Amino acid sequence: MSPSSVFISRLLLYSRLGFPPAWIAGKRYFEIGPGSADAAGFFARFGPAQMVLADKDPSVVETLRARVAAGDFPCDDVRVVQAKLPDGSAEPVYDLVLAEGVFPGEDDPAALLRFAGDLCRPGGMVVATSISPISVFAESSRRLLKPILKSEGVADDDMVDEIVRIFGPDLDTMAGMRRPKSEWATHTLLLGWKNVTLTLNEMIETFGDRFMIGGTSPDFKTDWRWFKAPDVTPASVNRRAIEDYHRNVAAMLDYRVDPTGDIGVDGAALDRLAGLALATQMEAWHADSLAPIPRYLEIAREIADLIEPAMTETATGIQDFCAAIQRRLDHGPSSGLDTKRFRPMFGRGQLFVAFQKL
Ligand SMILES: C[S@@+](CC[C@H](N)C(=O)[O-])C[C@H]1O[C@@H](n2cnc3c(N)ncnc32)[C@H](O)[C@@H]1O
Repeated sequence: MSPSSVFISRLLLYSRLGFPPAWIAGKRYFEIGPGSADAAGFFARFGPAQMVLADKDPSVVETLRARVAAGDFPCDDVRVVQAKLPDGSAEPVYDLVLAEGVFPGEDDPAALLRFAGDLCRPGGMVVATSISPISVFAESSRRLLKPILKSEGVADDDMVDEIVRIFGPDLDTMAGMRRPKSEWATHTLLLGWKNVTLTLNEMIETFGDRFMIGGTSPDFKTDWRWFKAPDVTPASVNRRAIEDYHRNVAAMLDYRVDPTGDIGVDGAALDRLAGLALATQMEAWHADSLAPIPRYLEIAREIADLIEPAMTETATGIQDFCAAIQRRLDHGPSSGLDTKRFRPMFGRGQLFVAFQKL
């Protein structure tokens, strides 16, 4: 993407989340885990009075400080802090608090989200990213390859090459994939997952009725609150958001599915099954054990049955995946691992969510 299209996509993202980015002019911005600081660079252009960028990684902090010194963020008061948050008490003085892409791997993702909320002043906004077991199902399924290769005696040094050989063609199906395959293999299959998810439900439970959901991207909500409906309270808006989410969340399972409209899959049931699948995958992955895999395949087939009437292509892909894994377990490496129609299936990853603090 060109620099201007990156800018436009951020503009659309935050507008979709419920506030025009120019709202930050003259206000205070706090970002947890800015990383490459794409969001901070974007918001700096709208004239915030203050920006605090807090990252736990010393090399990120060093780079950010050099960028501040070079004038990369056009704001008079930019503070770069090295900190692993949460750390102590938070002053609720910031108008906008961002926590994007920071939850996977945290010991306690909800505590980090709570901290983001504590930094926000009443009337301010928190933008955070949610990851559901549904959106990581495709990647989670691919992770079964690690215990399988281990059981077949593949050496650690050969693991990445072997994964790329097997799943490289899957990545070729994605037009926008620019990441090197070996990096994808290491990151997706070989790094330990700990608390990888933080669902929308968990976010709403963490915040309670002190926060009201604003917008989401992908957008699935129908917003009734402007129409003088009798039951507009934070609790009713948040509950309604969960209902809308469950009607549409199946689209997070496969990025090829149109995320608008009622998909016709019971999202609450899918959420539960995907949660079981994720826990079973983690069991197999962490112990390098094949024992949980048959149970994983049963759950995956249940998912396929559940979505089949509405998402036939995705369901068939999951069935093909299960058949390929079963063949591999039965016949070993000579059977290859041709997952056929599963190849182009990838989850949508994170859901951006904005909350307003009341
Ligand atoms: C995957 S990157 C995401 C960067 C950026 N927010 C984005 O969405 O592109 C996660 C960043 O968050 C930082 N991070 C993760 N957990 C953190 C924590 N508890 N406190 C501070 N920084 C954290 C990491 O060091 C890393 O720079």
